[in-house]
Amino acid sequence: MHTSVETKEEFEKVRSLEQKAQKYLAGGCLGTFRAPLDPIPVISHGEGSRIIDAQGRSYIDFIMGSGPLILGHSHPALVSAVERQLRHGTTYYWIGEHIVQLAEKIVQAAPCGETVKFANSGTEATYHALRMARVYTGREKILKFEGGYHGVHDYSLMSAHPKNVGSYPEAKPDSGGIPRGIAESVLVAPFNDTETTAQIIQTHGHAIAAAIVEPLQRVIKPRGTFLNDVRKLTREHNIVLIFDEIVTGFRLDYGGAQEHYGVIPDVAVYGKALTGGFSLAAICGNREILDTTNPDRIGTQDHSYFSGTLNGNPLAAAAGLACLVELEKEGVLKGLHDRGERFMEEIRNLGRSCHVPLQVAGDGPVLQLFFTEKPIINYQDTLSQDKTLGQKVAKKMWEKGVSVVPNGKIYLSIAHSEEDFQRFLETLEDVLRSLS
Ligand SMILES: Cc1ncc(COP(=O)(O)O)c(C=O)c1O
Repeated sequence: MHTSVETKEEFEKVRSLEQKAQKYLAGGCLGTFRAPLDPIPVISHGEGSRIIDAQGRSYIDFIMGSGPLILGHSHPALVSAVERQLRHGTTYYWIGEHIVQLAEKIVQAAPCGETVKFANSGTEATYHALRMARVYTGREKILKFEGGYHGVHDYSLMSAHPKNVGSYPEAKPDSGGIPRGIAESVLVAPFNDTETTAQIIQTHGHAIAAAIVEPLQRVIKPRGTFLNDVRKLTREHNIVLIFDEIVTGFRLDYGGAQEHYGVIPDVAVYGKALTGGFSLAAICGNREILDTTNPDRIGTQDHSYFSGTLNGNPLAAAAGLACLVELEKEGVLKGLHDRGERFMEEIRNLGRSCHVPLQVAGDGPVLQLFFTEKPIINYQDTLSQDKTLGQKVAKKMWEKGVSVVPNGKIYLSIAHSEEDFQRFLETLEDVLRSLS
């Protein structure tokens, strides 16, 4: 691939940066994924639908910051909103003008919206929502769905990526270091399986504070009446229903998955697309549940402790407001969704013409490729994929200037052009033919 590093000194500077990344960043990465190139590239900047590494190599970005960059990298509306705010202070701790306006906009957009609390990440938001539900109901247990991911806290990392499925409602920890007591307070049901979910709720409902679900579980769509059934069951058993809309919020529709699938939870959490790439997440919903965080209750069992130095940060709030102004424009999210649906069909056709066992799951602008014959309806089905092939495909895509997470999600943005989609398809075709 083309690199703009021409002199020996420039090349050595980049190599040293790449080596320092390995040496100083634990595990040689920021989280659990590594870019599949050797040495691992160091990104120098992003522009629209592209990222450019320190060697000057440009990649069409189909990761988009793992979802936040729905407007693309450095969208001018976000840049100017944040630049303006920078001159007025980077954090206050107290309520600022933009965070009030953002709260209003979220409440207006979210079908379940009455009131909002702000945190910094999706992890924090789901963690707090679960605690609020425990305070509100006076119950301890949490029901989650196998394969569902809600961040990196201990309650989320239960049967999010289990190797062995089944034995519901037993929760299986996905990480070392999680106290055994957590597994005892989490129940797990299979997504898209009303019957098993109903059995678990009927047996344990009296002890369950909250059911938390990604309405689009990773990239798996809810089937038939599944979400409605969960809504009905949770209501009958006075369980708080939490929609994790970190991925779906302000993406599937302006009103998120609630609007898209027509089911309204008690509480929803938002992040990612909400600010177009700044650290901010929101918990929004029923006033009585969120009021458990009211500091007047501190010191009582009716209080859900809530705090955070950067909560409601004005830079992130300014970005969020600017981002929502773009996303609420007529046709923006609908256009992106339609393009995503066509893109998925184009990839499916490519798989067929290359005779590769390939499933494409997703909803509009968020999708994933699975190298398997098996249709992806449940977490269990994803275990049949050929991950080694997925890893090879991702590596070759990067080498040819298209960045994707190996065996991970693809996020589309309004910055992706028709040319970008064609480049993706041509590159994937080249790669699949070279591998088969
Ligand atoms: C559905 C869902 N919930 C929660 C999270 C956690 O968000 P964060 O990475 O901001 O902590 C993620 C992150 O990918 C997510 O996809």
